[in-house]
Amino acid sequence: MSNATRTFTVAVVGATGAVGETMLSILAERDFPVGKLIALASARSAGGTVDFKGQKVDVLDLATFDPTGVDIALFSAGGGVSKEYAPKFAAAGAVVIDNSSTFRYDDDVPLVVSEVNPHAAKHRPRGIIANPNCSTMQLMPVLAPIHREYGITRVNVATYQSVSGAGRSGMEELGKQTAQLLAFQEIEPQKFQAQIAFNLIPHIDDFQPNGYTKEEMKLVWETQKILEDKSILVNPTAVRVPVFYGHSEAVNVETRKKLTPEAARALLAAAPGVEVVDEHKAGGYPTPVTHASGQDPVFVGRIREDFSHPSAINLWVVADNIRKGAALNAVQLAELVAAGG
Ligand code: A2P
Repeated sequence: MSNATRTFTVAVVGATGAVGETMLSILAERDFPVGKLIALASARSAGGTVDFKGQKVDVLDLATFDPTGVDIALFSAGGGVSKEYAPKFAAAGAVVIDNSSTFRYDDDVPLVVSEVNPHAAKHRPRGIIANPNCSTMQLMPVLAPIHREYGITRVNVATYQSVSGAGRSGMEELGKQTAQLLAFQEIEPQKFQAQIAFNLIPHIDDFQPNGYTKEEMKLVWETQKILEDKSILVNPTAVRVPVFYGHSEAVNVETRKKLTPEAARALLAAAPGVEVVDEHKAGGYPTPVTHASGQDPVFVGRIREDFSHPSAINLWVVADNIRKGAALNAVQLAELVAAGG
């Protein structure tokens, strides 16, 4: 059967979660050739249903599911679940596309952004392709063309990450705390380390021995791996902000060859998956709510020369962390696999 007519048995692991649910809608939107859709979650959700192409699909318990016959498995149920079950799905013959950080830094697992390094997806000795972390993901389609043409030496980045990056419970906590505080009630942080409503928290994932958090180090490790250049220096600060959908990043990029704002605008306007929104007027820049939420592209604005440095440029990069930052790229990787890549 040719790839044009072939259909695939697709399993979504974590189908009831914020990313899993979006994976289902993006598979449908992009008309991915799904022959059979299998929705998997924990025993808590088994017996319920999720929507796929207007139909109700039963949610099955991952713990008792036999992966034989699954062609492509999209995992977004956390690192522990990936660690235990992804190898089992791969051993049963599925190509696993994993959204957790479990396998990302293993040399024999490709880490792929569909527009940037699709060639890497072809070599997957363990049957697993890793989906980058959301904050790295949105930066790559922007940095890749700059690195190719101008040679990036160093990146300073501060992230402004929405609560949906912490899953459904993150969104529930922001909603609940906001309502409680507006009603003059006491709040008690559960999901996040401090009050998230009307606040921001410079702490995502665990602290590392070097004083950075793991979320910050993901930006370092993943940028070097995806751009295939260990010499790129990355200095990140990752911050959780009270925004529901859409991560933003203030990025300073130092280059070997000088990059002017005009050249950057032209280069990024032509970059796949990137949209430039850069006018010097109110609203002439992307924000999570006005541009990114629910949209596929990575938006770039506030492009300006760093006047404190001989060869550096400032960028403001915004994307929907659940779509391009997770579910969309996972489906794009499934498309690469389906196309024989
Ligand atoms: P469940 O609904 O059964 O808890 P989010 O990141 O939005 O919190 O979503 C996490 C997803 O991962 C959910 O679909 C959740 O299913 C799923 N999940 C969490 N733990 C497990 C587990 N042990 N086995 C299977 N799925 C899990």
